[in-house]
Amino acid sequence: MSKRWNVYVTREIPKPALDMLAQYCDMEVNPEDCVLKREVLLEKVQGRDGVLCLLTDRIDKEVLDAARDAVIFSNYAVGFDNIDVEYASTRGILISNTPGVLTEATAEMAWALLFAVARRVVESDRYNREGKFNGWGPLHFLGQNVTGKTLGVIGVGRIGTSFAKKAQGFEMKILYSNTRVNADFEAQTGGKYVDLDTLLQESDFISLHVPLSPKTKHLISGRELKLMKKSAILINTSRGPVVDEKALVKALKEGEIWGAGLDVYEKEPEIAPGLAELNNVVMCPHIASATEETRTKMGMMAVENLLAGLGGKIPPNCLNP
Ligand code: DGY
Repeated sequence: MSKRWNVYVTREIPKPALDMLAQYCDMEVNPEDCVLKREVLLEKVQGRDGVLCLLTDRIDKEVLDAARDAVIFSNYAVGFDNIDVEYASTRGILISNTPGVLTEATAEMAWALLFAVARRVVESDRYNREGKFNGWGPLHFLGQNVTGKTLGVIGVGRIGTSFAKKAQGFEMKILYSNTRVNADFEAQTGGKYVDLDTLLQESDFISLHVPLSPKTKHLISGRELKLMKKSAILINTSRGPVVDEKALVKALKEGEIWGAGLDVYEKEPEIAPGLAELNNVVMCPHIASATEETRTKMGMMAVENLLAGLGGKIPPNCLNP
């Protein structure tokens, strides 16, 4: 009988993925549907051949050192700012992620937020539930048209491109800002490359699709928010710290911009003081990839990566340089 690996899974993921893992591994899954406490994570990685972890687990030097026997940490996410890949590489530990399978779900969520804010969907739903609807009113819940407007896309990787492609039906002009000109994006969307300040000044809707790195931390702060139109709507489905949340609360409160749609937060799961009191923000709890199909695909991909690494192969979605 071939060796069964000893694996830890830091939180329950969709069943088909766990079933596949169980065929090859003796595994322990965090039984609580909550983020693992730091001390538990440090204890549970010990003696494991591999770990399937989440974006909510901080996989830093301390954890990687505690996981003395691990050959791989397979992240159940496309983003990997939670992992010290550089240090893992020095220790010879493989790191992998789940790119591609959540592109469409995340792009769809950015549109869901854009429409929810532009057409005040959540605010008016709340109004109805509170029994306040007393008939059609010419001035009730005036929002903003989307068709024909200018869409600013910051970061045009897989998700930014998919998001922009979906704008076609709304006859929008597309501006984009990126680390470099992206001819493929332009061919697919008709988007025009501009510098960040021009994008901020000219766009009606601005959507963030950059990974979190020291370069993108607080990419949108007080200065950038001031450059935006007073009617602008900001959408963030990337990572919370890309936006300076304190500056955002101020901009939303003081009408520097019109609204925001957020799926991610600077200090998740905390939400910046003041944000929840504002009607011009729609806030979802980091669910952009949360569809049945997508989360299952992410699970299968994370397991495939894990099994490849355990079997001595380079995983298909390896992040080590
Ligand atoms: C990711 O995968 O990075 C998303 O933020 C969660 O699905």
